[in-house]
Amino acid sequence: MRMTTDHSGMQVYRASLLHFIQDPAFHEQAYRWHEDGLLLIADGKIVAADDYEVLKQRIPPDLQIRDFRGKLIMPGFIDTHIHYPQTDIIGSPAEGLLPWLETYTFPTEKQFSDPLHAIEVANFFLDELLRCGTTTAMVYCTVHPASVDAFFAASEARDLRMVAGKVLMDRHCPDFLQDTAESGIRDTEALIQRWHKRGRALYAITPRFAPTSSLEQMHLAGELARAYPDTYLQTHVAENTDEVAWARALFPSARSYMDVYDHYGMLRPRSMFAHCIWLDDLDRRRMADTGAAVAVCPTSNLFLGSGLFNFERADAMQVPLSLATDVGGGTSFSMLHTMNEAYKVARMSGTHLPALRMFYLATLGAARSMQLEGTLGSFSSGNEADFIVLDLQATPLLARRTARADSLEELLFALAILGDDRAVAATYAAGRCVHSRDEE
Ligand code: GUN
Ligand code: ZN
Repeated sequence: MRMTTDHSGMQVYRASLLHFIQDPAFHEQAYRWHEDGLLLIADGKIVAADDYEVLKQRIPPDLQIRDFRGKLIMPGFIDTHIHYPQTDIIGSPAEGLLPWLETYTFPTEKQFSDPLHAIEVANFFLDELLRCGTTTAMVYCTVHPASVDAFFAASEARDLRMVAGKVLMDRHCPDFLQDTAESGIRDTEALIQRWHKRGRALYAITPRFAPTSSLEQMHLAGELARAYPDTYLQTHVAENTDEVAWARALFPSARSYMDVYDHYGMLRPRSMFAHCIWLDDLDRRRMADTGAAVAVCPTSNLFLGSGLFNFERADAMQVPLSLATDVGGGTSFSMLHTMNEAYKVARMSGTHLPALRMFYLATLGAARSMQLEGTLGSFSSGNEADFIVLDLQATPLLARRTARADSLEELLFALAILGDDRAVAATYAAGRCVHSRDEE
């Protein structure tokens, strides 16, 4: 009788491996690169990532290695700011943020009072993220609690680590999208009880932005954030000059727009602020001191004409940074495309953003911004096995350009500038394949 060992929970992948252990902007030895590498996974967690030669003797002889040689495996991308209900209005032009919200966003979000619509969009949205190699995102639902149930149910079915929350919005928006200070908090608390830490779901308290919340709602949301310190908080700040002027008029005693959130206790670890274009150094200092993080949204900021994020000042103050698409203001689900635009935004203020930094920001940097290092974002042993297989020959041009790259930086730069969803050959979540480009 042939003796076999049960390796049922174990998988092994052979490819080039890349992951980060530090921020390359501030550390010399920031990444691990294994040109011929092996990734060992058991029961949805990383066991080891190292050179093939180092790890090969740990592979049971009867275990089949999945051979992705010629391709690049790295941790799945993390998108720290995106709106699933805005999927259908991506690429809708307007003369700036506020008209864009009125013309497209609010009418499309109205449709999420219908749970069946919410379920259909949530499923499409998650599949699109996975096609682009994004395995974790911080997601806005709508004001309707059922939009959160639809989202988390779709995410749970795919076993994804997702952060999401119901929008809080009790003024300056159409009646059909308004909650009240009390109902918003009551619904949020019920959703926290239902979803936070259920499987891989994490809840984010989600005041849309200060102009659409009353003082009472802001106060109660801040209290909730204190009462549930391990939940997330997400909002928008300092995206557009008209919005900044509006916020300042509504909260005249605040020192700055960011100070409004500070006043209500919302600057804390696990708070994610989208945009942060029109900040000053005192705002940045408060973010760095409190552990609040920035979601930089370049495709959205260019598309809506909002402004250019200042990487140099943010780094000077060591504000936690991450990259985000901000679909539907953003114009692509792809974090590669987002890097491409982030690079150009940095160039416009005379800054060079290396590719290594951008891939860090889209993986470990984002995980750190979300206090999830040790869970996600790198191949440290024990981390959740969310990873992507990138195809450097996905298009004729990408193949031609990467063939002549003579450093890792040059290779990654070509991928960021020329790559998109076509470069994502496969996506894995908790060790399970959730997207395979060539099997569609
Ligand atoms: N500010 C308030 N709401 C929104 C939104 O839905 N998208 C963007 N980009 N900015 C906002
Ligand atoms: Zn947004």
